[in-house]
Amino acid sequence: MHVAAVIAAGTAGEAEQQARACLRRGADLVEFRIDALRHPTAGDLKRLASALGPRAIATLRSPAQGGFRGVDRDARHALLLEACRLPFRYVDAELTTDAERLAEYAKLAKSRAKDLIVSHHFSAPASPEEVGGILDACLAQGRVGKVAVPVATVEEAAALVDLARDRSSSRFALVGMGAAGMLTRALAADTGQEIQYATGNRETAAGQLGLDAALRVRSKDAFVLGILGRPLGHSFSPEIHEAALQAVHLPGVYLPFDVAEASLESFLSTADGLHVRGLNVTIPYKEKVAGLMDELDGDAEALEAVNTVVLHEGWAKGHNTDTYGFRTSLRSLGLRLGGRRVLVVGAGGAAKAVVHVLLREGAEVAVANRTAVRAEALVDAFDDDVGLLAPEEAPRKGPWDLLVNATPAGTAGMEAVLPVPEAVLDRTAFVYDLVYNPPETPLLAAAKRRGVRGTNGLEMLLQQAAQSFELWTGKSAPYEAMRRAAWEAAA
Ligand SMILES: NC(=O)c1ccc[n+]([C@@H]2O[C@H](COP(=O)([O-])OP(=O)(O)OC[C@H]3O[C@@H](n4cnc5c(N)ncnc54)[C@H](OP(=O)(O)O)[C@@H]3O)[C@@H](O)[C@H]2O)c1
Repeated sequence: MHVAAVIAAGTAGEAEQQARACLRRGADLVEFRIDALRHPTAGDLKRLASALGPRAIATLRSPAQGGFRGVDRDARHALLLEACRLPFRYVDAELTTDAERLAEYAKLAKSRAKDLIVSHHFSAPASPEEVGGILDACLAQGRVGKVAVPVATVEEAAALVDLARDRSSSRFALVGMGAAGMLTRALAADTGQEIQYATGNRETAAGQLGLDAALRVRSKDAFVLGILGRPLGHSFSPEIHEAALQAVHLPGVYLPFDVAEASLESFLSTADGLHVRGLNVTIPYKEKVAGLMDELDGDAEALEAVNTVVLHEGWAKGHNTDTYGFRTSLRSLGLRLGGRRVLVVGAGGAAKAVVHVLLREGAEVAVANRTAVRAEALVDAFDDDVGLLAPEEAPRKGPWDLLVNATPAGTAGMEAVLPVPEAVLDRTAFVYDLVYNPPETPLLAAAKRRGVRGTNGLEMLLQQAAQSFELWTGKSAPYEAMRRAAWEAAA
């Protein structure tokens, strides 16, 4: 499989410069999107062909097929004929081109020993039968067939992967567009695709892999990691794990899996065949996924919640690395909590993991949540004594050695509210906010105004991510690279 960096630049000079940079980074090929040039001319084609032709695909897409700028049909025809004459490695023409012209390109390309890619871009989702039929039509006209189709669900992407595996004796590219379709790109080598189209100077298609990721999964041993949830709000996990995979040169990618609850079980059962080796699990599936595992580790079993899944030869083991992340970050902060009074705000999965760790550290724990019944259920889930109070009572029931916010209150994009009355900070020694975006949350800002020390959830996130990475890959986590990626994502 060749990795082609897609170059969409306004001038031929800029395109050449960007293409050279991508080839230096390791791309096998570049795809020049001639339709992105401001005024594409035969002179531009000549310049690009003489500079980098043998390592380039020339593509001139029409607006109806996703082209950047309108070039009229006859001018496009003249440019495509010229591209077929010039020493490009491949020329891409659309299946919808009229048959006579397409035959002319095929003949000319053949006489100049280059490969004609005949391509089709669906504008709306299509059934695997329809996609297969169009791919066959492309293959009948060109040396290489390329079909791109929007994909809305992981099931649709998996169907495309099956279709690609059926065509593995042909020369083709079959791309699922959009975040759900990234799986088809991750498995491009495994499914025998001719070309992986990766981001060159800018993303030109939804779900396109970055050049580094595309180069990593060039091998047939490529594997997939990802985050499972619905909806997938903005998490830093993709940035952190992509940086880790890149730092230790592993042939993997980290993808978003936005899966409907009804499809969770079937997704987990097919994941192995899709080379998914590991998953993070986030809201709202941590408990549900725990019930679907073949095995649970100690913390996941105690909490009946899984945030990390390791898949190996059809066996799914659930772990809870939130506990490790929280415990390790407490240690790195030097917080010793034996006999100390801690208030945990929130009663969801994160609060449960936090209470679990705090009890084991020997702390005296109380829980406050805006919905009382949920707090009661959390308290009841533990054999040890856990106090229960309403958020409004928090100031009066202090002092607190530690206040942990285990709610999303204060997260970027949400209303800047505090999960407990601000007055509680007058009687609190240290604030630990699990929220990490923004880095200074409203609760931490309020604490700072009072001279109360605190931390956000970034260190916990990093520690839990490091442990997940080690469970999936068996390699030590490149912690500094992961931390840098998290800081960059937070900036
Ligand atoms: N730093 C890390 O590594 C890390 C790890 C895990 C989680 N987290 C963060 O921790 C937070 C909670 O996660 P989770 O998995 O426990 O979520 P969850 O299961 O959905 O629980 C959310 C909890 O927060 C409460 N809540 C939601 N919005 C609130 C608001 N505006 N004011 C007061 N309370 C509110 C909910 O109260 P009700 O019961 O009343 O709905 C519920 O108790 C999230 O922001 C998550 O990103 C961070």
